[in-house]
Amino acid sequence: MKTIAVLTSGGDAPGMNAAIRAVVRTGCENGMSVYGINRGYQGLIDDDLIELNIRSVSDIIHRGGTMLHSARCLAFKEEEGMQKAIETCKKHGIEGIVVIGGDGSFRGARDLSLRGIPCIGVPGTIDNDIVSSDYTIGYDTCLNTIMDMVDRLRDTVESHSRCMVVEVMGNRCGDLTLNSGIAVGATAIVIPEIQSDIEKHVIERIRRTQKTDKKHFIIMVAEGIGGVAALAKKIQEECGVETRSIVLGHVQRGGSPTARDRVIASEMGYHAVQLLMKGIGNRVVVMRKDEIVDYDIIEALTMTKEIDTTLYNIAHEISI
Ligand code: F6P
Repeated sequence: MKTIAVLTSGGDAPGMNAAIRAVVRTGCENGMSVYGINRGYQGLIDDDLIELNIRSVSDIIHRGGTMLHSARCLAFKEEEGMQKAIETCKKHGIEGIVVIGGDGSFRGARDLSLRGIPCIGVPGTIDNDIVSSDYTIGYDTCLNTIMDMVDRLRDTVESHSRCMVVEVMGNRCGDLTLNSGIAVGATAIVIPEIQSDIEKHVIERIRRTQKTDKKHFIIMVAEGIGGVAALAKKIQEECGVETRSIVLGHVQRGGSPTARDRVIASEMGYHAVQLLMKGIGNRVVVMRKDEIVDYDIIEALTMTKEIDTTLYNIAHEISI
């Protein structure tokens, strides 16, 4: 391949810039022309792209967000949008595309691949919810951001002997909530993958720890469960502890990527271009058992992922 492109799609994630940088520099160093497509698949439909060189991606490795901007593009799900995207590829001689995003973006990459434009998916989302990959770019940064914010909440919660119910992002995946919950020493963790009886897992738990003289509590709830305000009211009424709730929201998605995210993003971006250089498309680059590997994109989308129940059980046992 002589000409490739890169786009970021879906929710932005810290480390996406490091992946873009790796794609552009690997491509350029190997004699390819590399286009950056703006606003994900929408930019491909609108012919909104720009040729990048090794200097275009200077000074971005430490920045959150994505220099190419991102979008959740509904038009790309329609055949008309798909055909416009293919026309843009033909116009610029684009022979392969690196798509950095989540499973939804991978489905778009699969559909484009099936229509003759080879794509390579690279997992980029804070949620860690990509079924084929143990790790997604942005997850570590987000986890540390949540930990930092809840540590701050703990200061005030402790000072006032209160309970704080915290809603954490993650779409339908509980990884961020479970891992941050352990890291902040939460009293209870509620995630969609494990059915929780609120009475038993939250209320009784608080009451039990109150008997051991515990005065402040942090309850971590995944976005996929929601209802933090109602849960806070219930805790206050039933446990007699003043309770507040907070939805951490989009602040979780921002910030400078951690070293782990920068390194993994660089490895994955490099690996993606190596595949395109060999004329291989229709793959996703993922992490399995600490190794960067690639899978067929269709196979990858049919895989399943389980929550770490051992970790959940540990959290349950020690958070008392
Ligand atoms: O996929 C990342 C994510 O932040 C999810 O955790 C969340 O469910 C969603 O995106 C929020 O989407 P939006 O930015 O469109 O509100």
